Amino acid sequence: MTQSWDILSTMTPADYLKFRGVLGSSSGFQSDQFRRFETLLGLKDPTFLRFHEDRPQAHAALKAALAEPSLYDDALAQLAIAGLPVPAEVLNRDVTQPYEPSEGVEAAWLEVYRDTERWWPLYQLAEKLVDLDDALLTWRHKHVVTVERIIGRRRGTGGTEGVAYLASTLTRRCFPELWSLRTKL
Ligand code: HEM
Repeated sequence: MTQSWDILSTMTPADYLKFRGVLGSSSGFQSDQFRRFETLLGLKDPTFLRFHEDRPQAHAALKAALAEPSLYDDALAQLAIAGLPVPAEVLNRDVTQPYEPSEGVEAAWLEVYRDTERWWPLYQLAEKLVDLDDALLTWRHKHVVTVERIIGRRRGTGGTEGVAYLASTLTRRCFPELWSLRTKL
């Protein structure tokens, strides 16, 4: 996904303006695969469902992804199974809703990072999760830069402010405590 930007960024503003008219109001918001991917990793947001109402199959697939535990929910369950103190309200949370970062979860991951030999498999898992978040952020960053290079500060076809909206998505983290804990090590 990240490599595709090398090609996309060769499109000039003039090239883009040739077909901007026929794009109408279609946009990346209609990518159910992207939203499903985010959802399965842990970025749950049921408000995005509305963009897929015209395609029952895509809508059902995103709804199903929202209903099941995410990769992060599974990782936190593994922490608890290993005996680390993951708060019960996190383990029993309503998985259809956005995940709220938790100090208790951060404390559990901190134990892993402070004694990596003891918790080696969980430590490796955590670093692989950070690799995933890192790669997704690289994709987002290349998207913002390519968009600015092609449409400047124009509004997006999907109706957002464009670059400003996309830049705001750079703060999204699928596995937030794995980032915040680093400050405390
Ligand atoms: C020159 C090409 C592109 C431009 C100018 C562009 C522009 C934008 C803009 C402005 C948005 C914000 C929503 C809106 O108001 O429309 C957006 C969202 C999005 N675009 Fe693109 N985009 C481009 C190419 C792509 C490509 C190639 C992909 C996928 C492979 C993609 C996937 C997405 C996705 C998934 C979103 C939703 C992002 C989110 O909510 O985090 N875009 N795009």
